[in-house]
Amino acid sequence: MNVTKDFFMMLSQNRMLNGAAKRWGLKLGAQSVVAGTTVEEMVQSIRKLNAIGISATIDNLGEFVFDKNEALQAKTQILAVIEAIHEHELDAHISLKPTQLGLDVDYDFCLENLREIVSVAHQHSIFVNFDMEDHAHLQPSFDILEELHKDYDNIGTVIQAYFFRAEEDIQKYKNYRLRIVKGAYKEPENLAYQTKEDIDANYIKLIEYHLLNGAFTSIATHDHHVINHVKKFVKEHGIPNDKFEFQMLYGFRKDMQLQLTREGYNFCTYVPFGIDWYGYFMRRLAERPQNLNLIVKQTFNK
Ligand code: FDA
Repeated sequence: MNVTKDFFMMLSQNRMLNGAAKRWGLKLGAQSVVAGTTVEEMVQSIRKLNAIGISATIDNLGEFVFDKNEALQAKTQILAVIEAIHEHELDAHISLKPTQLGLDVDYDFCLENLREIVSVAHQHSIFVNFDMEDHAHLQPSFDILEELHKDYDNIGTVIQAYFFRAEEDIQKYKNYRLRIVKGAYKEPENLAYQTKEDIDANYIKLIEYHLLNGAFTSIATHDHHVINHVKKFVKEHGIPNDKFEFQMLYGFRKDMQLQLTREGYNFCTYVPFGIDWYGYFMRRLAERPQNLNLIVKQTFNK
């Protein structure tokens, strides 16, 4: 783990800065990777993506929810996003984090908040993805997913390739629509692969498994090596384009997002928005400090 990564990770977890940033509006160049602070701004951004054939998964940003009122507020906001998708006929679905809906407050409270969201989304045929967070929240998130899957089929989740347990999880949840990622959090050595080589190797293995054996696969990466491998793999195995999609984050590798869409692949952009942008933004800088150069350039070359 290098110092810059640790530094940005530490900034992302600073509750005081997270709180203060809510009052700043989008700053520090965050506007290049966050699609506005309001539902209206988010709708405009998604209309532009849809117009070029890209669908969206919408994340109403939220961090550090430790009390019931904040979780209820997050639920209300997400329900408003679902209504906006429906009303504006956006080609979009929802991404949410269980902790935003109160997983750190109380399991049953969180379950009921998620049930309401999934149920309203179900009425409008909108898919809801449970983003995966750090290891402490992994099992309860899977438990909630399983509980809700008894009543609803419009839900899926994320498999993080750095976890040793990921292979077992992907087999268990192969009938779910899954997004497969490398993993964004700092995880301990007894639970997760630590080197890029090990994570990448497991990542490829999991993608291939789900493409061959599972339900719909979202391959969420900016890594062109992985993307090129997938393109070759699906061709060799006769896997049709409607069985999978590529996903990238809003504002990243925009040329490649467009290129993959033009090549006929399904493409879905992860669109974060909202006043709670700070932690998300810092984690992106932690992942790839070169993003700082990109953001500085985009901020000043107007
Ligand atoms: P990685 O960062 O390993 O980069 C590999 C190579 O790709 C680089 O060396 C470079 O060559 C190239 N590259 C990468 N970024 C580039 C850029 N911006 N410009 C040019 N070249 C670039 N994590 C999690 O734990 N839970 C979750 O729910 C999610 N959800 C999620 C959704 C979506 C849509 C995405 C794209 C990612 C996530 N993640 C996530 C984050 C994920 O786990 C991971 O941390 C990041 O995607 C970074 O890893 P990459 O696979 O993108 O490549």
